[in-house]
Amino acid sequence: MRILGGFSWVSALTLSVCLIGNGVVQAQNGSPSQWPLHDNGLNDVVQWDHYSFKVNGQRLFVFSGELHYWRIPVPEVWEDLLEKIKAAGFTAFAFYGNWAWHSANNHTLDFETGAHNFERLLETAKRVGLYVIVRPGPYVNAEANAGGFPLWLTTVHTITSKHLVTKGGTAFVYQIENEYGEQWVGDASKKVPNESAARYMALLEASARDNGIDVPLIHNNPNMNSKSWSQDFAPNATGNVDVSGVDSYPSCWSCNLDECTGTNGEYVAYQVVNYYDYFKNTTPTEPSFFPEFQGGSYNPWGGPEGGCPGDIGADFANLFYRNLISQRVTAISLYMMYGGTNWGAFAAPVVATSYDYSSPISENRKIDSKYYETKNLAMFTRVAKDLTITNRVENSTSYSTNSAIATSELRNPDTNAAFYVTIHSYSPSSTKESFQLRVSTSVGNLTIPQRGGSIFLNGHQSKIVVTDFAMGKQILTYSTAEVLTYALIDGHPVLVLWTGAGESTEFHLKGATKGAVRSQSVGATNATFHADEHGILTSIPAVNGMAIFEFDNNVKVIVADKPTAYLIWAPNLSNDPFGPVDKSVIVVGPYLVRSASPDGHSLSLKGDILANNTIIEVFASKEVRAVSWNGKGLRTQRTPYGSLKAGVASSTPKITLPSLDSWKVHDSLPERLPTYKDDGPAWIEANHSTTPNPTKPDTLPVLYVDDYGFHNSFHLFRGYFERPATAVNLAVQGGMAFGWSAWLNGDFLGSYLGNSSVGTANMTLSFENATVHSNRSNILLVAQDNTGHDLRAAAVQPRGILRASLEGGASFTKWKIAGEVNGERQQLDPVRGPLSEGGLTAERLGWHLPGFDDSAWNSSSPSTGFSGAGISFYRTTFAMNIPTGVDASFAFVLNAPASRKVRVQLFVNGYQYARFNPWVGNEVRFPVPPGVLNYAGDNTVGLSVWAQSEEGAKVDVRLEQEYAVESSWSSRFESEYLRPRWTAERLQYV
Ligand code: GAL
Repeated sequence: MRILGGFSWVSALTLSVCLIGNGVVQAQNGSPSQWPLHDNGLNDVVQWDHYSFKVNGQRLFVFSGELHYWRIPVPEVWEDLLEKIKAAGFTAFAFYGNWAWHSANNHTLDFETGAHNFERLLETAKRVGLYVIVRPGPYVNAEANAGGFPLWLTTVHTITSKHLVTKGGTAFVYQIENEYGEQWVGDASKKVPNESAARYMALLEASARDNGIDVPLIHNNPNMNSKSWSQDFAPNATGNVDVSGVDSYPSCWSCNLDECTGTNGEYVAYQVVNYYDYFKNTTPTEPSFFPEFQGGSYNPWGGPEGGCPGDIGADFANLFYRNLISQRVTAISLYMMYGGTNWGAFAAPVVATSYDYSSPISENRKIDSKYYETKNLAMFTRVAKDLTITNRVENSTSYSTNSAIATSELRNPDTNAAFYVTIHSYSPSSTKESFQLRVSTSVGNLTIPQRGGSIFLNGHQSKIVVTDFAMGKQILTYSTAEVLTYALIDGHPVLVLWTGAGESTEFHLKGATKGAVRSQSVGATNATFHADEHGILTSIPAVNGMAIFEFDNNVKVIVADKPTAYLIWAPNLSNDPFGPVDKSVIVVGPYLVRSASPDGHSLSLKGDILANNTIIEVFASKEVRAVSWNGKGLRTQRTPYGSLKAGVASSTPKITLPSLDSWKVHDSLPERLPTYKDDGPAWIEANHSTTPNPTKPDTLPVLYVDDYGFHNSFHLFRGYFERPATAVNLAVQGGMAFGWSAWLNGDFLGSYLGNSSVGTANMTLSFENATVHSNRSNILLVAQDNTGHDLRAAAVQPRGILRASLEGGASFTKWKIAGEVNGERQQLDPVRGPLSEGGLTAERLGWHLPGFDDSAWNSSSPSTGFSGAGISFYRTTFAMNIPTGVDASFAFVLNAPASRKVRVQLFVNGYQYARFNPWVGNEVRFPVPPGVLNYAGDNTVGLSVWAQSEEGAKVDVRLEQEYAVESSWSSRFESEYLRPRWTAERLQYV
């Protein structure tokens, strides 16, 4: 059901209503009451219209970002991440599910063990105060192994339903499928329905509804051509959702710019995209919504070491997110806000171990300029209430005195507040431009700044200039510096403005007659005040650091330069995701402020301190007389203008890390030897003569691991033949960047070393240098690395051997296959889950787990290494004792100083946290989260080293500190439950 809220046909007629192509009624004057207000027919808790979403009757600017709980399998760390997202001014976050993580086989669904229980994520969202965009799939893509396929939908619905905003939770929309832009056959404009796709969507929607999902159902179109599932575009078509959004990755989704072709056309850095017309034509009565907008880019195997933070850093965030606002977008979710790690077998072949995504929050959880830049915009959108109802009046260069600057004027038809979004006319340009802007305000048409100075766009930058900006009952007539935020403190506004260091600023405050500078900042001392009939104009020749102004209408204005503004926070005393301005306080100084709560006459602040001596300044109610930081009372002083100031001495200790130089070693490829017995439960005879897979093998039996219940990482194939042969021809498929090696009767034959863009490799390996028996069985061993299953339709591409034939007259008589313990039959390790291990001897026998007894092994270190082709497994243990009250982050750094023809996996307390393949990839630094690492006791590190050539292998392993900050979020917590130990049942999988 769709409601025409406040819409009357009489007023419609008088307002010259036009009927646009798709039958949607639209009033040309764009008055908010002329757009239908929709709900999903089940309740009116979440509503929406042409302008924005409404939750419980209040208009919401959705500033959201994505994280994947399964890429960070430590529930305690979810708290850290959600607190960081909340602190950045976001009103929401989004997450994908992953079927494979919850379902080891077709008779198991695990939503309880360890990080499989994602309810904790929803509970934390409620505590922290964030709305949630739930995106369970069933297919998610996400560069996840097989895109997270297949279905786990039914159970997920019921888990989420009690966390919906309609039931006291914060999940406010629910995404059906992902990028399933399949509504139309061929050209969407012809609207030829794809019946089976529509039935599939309808089925998923009915299932969600049947299981209590009564919030709006949403969808994200993969691009602007697919135009699927929108009620506006095809009213009442089967499969439509309530609100249909679109994805966009304007700066390419991959850190390897060579991959940047396709829907965006040729890649041009900082080239913004026009979405305005798309929304106008496809979803005119819905908010302009990006369920995914570029938060960074993934790093493929061939991509640069460390990702591509430079291409899509702070400047990118500044320019592109403002550009969405300039096109009236009021709901944005950044993909990714925190990327995390493709630990275990979570990756699809396209990505390496890291899913850092060059996101605002890094894989190691550090925040930096990109986070701060994003925060400064999100904080603004949270308080700029008038931004949730705007029309775009015009978009042109005529607003500016400089034709290199283009401006979009957005105007709120109710309040007449306006937002002028300025950008270089040619968005890729990075010049420094200065200009004056022609704006229309309640005090008349002005060219600002009026009293000298300019507005600057310095490099890849955009600025939003506000006019008639409401702060409670007070009005900022305009400001040439951007608004960061404001709070109503004891009923009076404290406004924060920010601009580039050294830039001039001018703002006009309505209703004031007198102003004064209240701080000693260099620029501020030269500020001048000019009263007029409407209020006061303040002109500041140069902003450096922070200046405070007070006006006689009880308005305080903080003007800060960019470095200062990055460290200004607006924690809220309530956990309402809207962040009500009358419950907000303003805190200047710390690296991160996570929360503020009243504690009698004291204000309890929680957060992180980076620098040794941080000065904290707090703007809060005058009732607040003292401030504590992370539980410790501070010596606060009241400033003449009413804020409280205190110094915090950080006591971050120096952490000494172990050198990892005492290792044990064992052969991890006994299967190559003829004496090895493959008759135990680890092995399955490969005897299928048919396969359900659409790709049929060249030779039989079928040697696809998936057909025998094995799916992840590493697999072994033992082929028997009884007569002499001269060579073997093998076609092996394992996904891009994969590799394989072969041995005959224990003698090394050769390897395919891998290539970041090749997933199948054919080779003929000669037996010339190997022993071939004529009177007893010959055993060929193929060891294969599988880098995951491909995305979308290619998810069913087999992994394993497509062709195996002998030359010289012999044929294979028998094949056996080994993979992860028990394959998909029964899990031994539900905590680490079904994607956590592969089929190496070391993994099957649990050598990677804490508690395995390696006392009988030889001592040797991976940096000493070994010669010849083969696989060795190294183990070491070390203790950590990280103090509480600190957030510390560590990474393992790997290096192969001798030969690059190696494939290495790093296991930390049983979790595989690195695939180091220096022949194909560039990743060397692998952050490992607390909880996986034991910060309060013993840690077990395992390293499988596969030398793919006779050159052998040497690998150096170092543990390095990424950062350590004093924090209210302690990275030392009880986490033993996440690290189950070795058990003797492993022994049978020899
Ligand atoms: C989107 C997709 C996401 C992810 C992203 C690229 O199109 O919906 O799941 O694959 O691309 O990282």
